[in-house]
Amino acid sequence: MSSQAPDSQATAVEEPLRDEHFSDRILAWFDRHGRKHLPWQQPPAPYRVWVSEIMLQQTQVNTVIGYFERFMDAFPDIASLAQADPDQVMHHWSGLGYYARARNLHRSAGLVMERHHGELPDDMEALQALPGIGRSTAGAIRSLAFGKYAPILDGNVKRVLARHFTIEGWPGQSRVLRHLWRLSDALTPRQRIADYNQAMMDLGAMVCARGKPACGVCPLVKSCQAHAQGDVSRYPLPKPRQKLPVRETRLLILVDADGAILLEQRPPTGIWGGLWSLPECPPERPLGEWCRRELGYETGKALSLPPRRHSFSHFHLDITPVVLPVNKPAKGLMDAGARVWYNLSRPDDRGLAAPVSRILQEIKSSDTDQ
Ligand code: ADE
Repeated sequence: MSSQAPDSQATAVEEPLRDEHFSDRILAWFDRHGRKHLPWQQPPAPYRVWVSEIMLQQTQVNTVIGYFERFMDAFPDIASLAQADPDQVMHHWSGLGYYARARNLHRSAGLVMERHHGELPDDMEALQALPGIGRSTAGAIRSLAFGKYAPILDGNVKRVLARHFTIEGWPGQSRVLRHLWRLSDALTPRQRIADYNQAMMDLGAMVCARGKPACGVCPLVKSCQAHAQGDVSRYPLPKPRQKLPVRETRLLILVDADGAILLEQRPPTGIWGGLWSLPECPPERPLGEWCRRELGYETGKALSLPPRRHSFSHFHLDITPVVLPVNKPAKGLMDAGARVWYNLSRPDDRGLAAPVSRILQEIKSSDTDQ
């Protein structure tokens, strides 16, 4: 139990300690309604829990399930992931987004082989020393995979606690975050830790939902302060809104005489890092000249496809795809970089950026429609 000196938040932190029934109510709810048959729970082996928690960091359970199963088929254990070709790993992540997660997972698998003889560690410090594992993910792995005590604080748990204790402010602020961590730590029981943490995440996702909370079936409704105030949707406060900037680009679909399309691999960091994409021509550059200089090809008449928006967490990207027939290589040398001619009728296992995958799919179906 906390032996902290009293501070301005002491009342709010100690309050739940008097509520002996908080975790009992959560666990009783879990027994009846919690999720017990997710693929990574059968069995909850450390490697499986780890991969699932990384996938679940920014993605919902229903989307993750298929990706998780395919990932396990391709890389059944840490050693196979550590040895895998980075392109193969990206291919299995393609469409999940936030690709730094896949790169970090791959790097971490190598580190687990080097530092921990291929066994995922169970202590918080060693877990958090692996790229991509923060405090909450480390806590989830330690509790769900090893059954050891660790509080967690993912988005779902933040919402449950912020509502139950009417915590003011945006959880991204460090003051608010510290408060929420103290609450999570104080409320987490020593017994049935895996069930409790799973239950808190499930409750946040299934009952204490962001949009439509189902307070009528919530095990915490009697003591929930936001519910008592009649103002559940006010908590937690959202991030202060900033208008996202808009960038424009053109993605070039260079098609050769055999119908193959030129792809290039993105640099390892930045958007779509390490994935395969289409050459990207800035809107202000003349197309023909750019293709000659940057790609080394003479191109024919350009055909623009309808523009589309792809949104990232920090900006919107307005993309105009442009189809360009390739006539011949331009004179002089071109820096080949990581480029391939990709045959749509024989797709291979390479990680494609999601909008590129959609564009290629459109082209493929328009070819077969004709
Ligand atoms: N979100 C993060 N981890 C999760 C888990 N283990 N189950 C459900 N949702 C989650």
